[in-house]
Amino acid sequence: MRLIHSLAELRATLAGERDTAFVPTMGNLHAGHIGLVEQVKALGGPVVASIFVNPLQFGAGEDFQRYPRTLPADCEQLEAAGCDIVFAPDVHEMYPEAQTFHVLPPLADQLCGAFRPGHFSGVATVVLKLFNMVRPATAIFGKKDYQQLFILKGLARQFNLPIRILEAATARAPDGLALSSRNGYLGAAERAEAPRLFRLLTEAAAAIAAGSRDFAGLERAASADLAAHGWRVDYVSVRAQATLLAPATDCRDLVILAAARLGSTRLIDNLEVSTAA
Ligand code: PAF
Repeated sequence: MRLIHSLAELRATLAGERDTAFVPTMGNLHAGHIGLVEQVKALGGPVVASIFVNPLQFGAGEDFQRYPRTLPADCEQLEAAGCDIVFAPDVHEMYPEAQTFHVLPPLADQLCGAFRPGHFSGVATVVLKLFNMVRPATAIFGKKDYQQLFILKGLARQFNLPIRILEAATARAPDGLALSSRNGYLGAAERAEAPRLFRLLTEAAAAIAAGSRDFAGLERAASADLAAHGWRVDYVSVRAQATLLAPATDCRDLVILAAARLGSTRLIDNLEVSTAA
């Protein structure tokens, strides 16, 4: 496995490759990330993982400074998973421009975007740059970041990027908590409380599958349960899978998305649910 910091070296190394598979990350890798690498390794082409903690997608007062930088440990895990190249540019390599052009995707101001102004603009901008740097045939993203995945699929479509976007199921701990680099911020009591988020999503999905269309009531009940257990709720929202907008009355393919804070840690999760016609 090669660790590359410069764009020039990355381009020289990948020159002529047509079937590169790409796993963009911000490092501090967990089993979910490694699962993404293993999934695209099976495609047979070279696998590139990027590690870049992207300042553009962190808001003022967010965890950019304390976000764990664990490059040596990340490289060990990536090498064991069969990754061929780790691309770890520094901020000057990524953003040499005095002024950075921002891509602002649709839906950028809803759900997580409403609570993290500028976040999805930062994500879309860095991913578009990374796609142009790595020029992959395939890129893979986890479904835990459901809105991010939706926006990036739209980015690839709308800018006619010749990249196949694969989506991977959310990796979970045995108690249901979605794996996240930020779970490491949780204290022991918070870690014990954290699975409530997925439990409530599962209950709401079961109610919808059983025929409930009272989405507002389900959102309110889940939010109240979280708040009663010490969470600060950003949102619990039932949306249409196809648009991530509020579902029309006949919409059958739904997703329940939630974001809430335990102490200083913001957790997100989601669950798809489809109802019979
Ligand atoms: O999901 C992430 O880790 C980041 O948002 C991404 C896609 C690597 C862009 O910085």
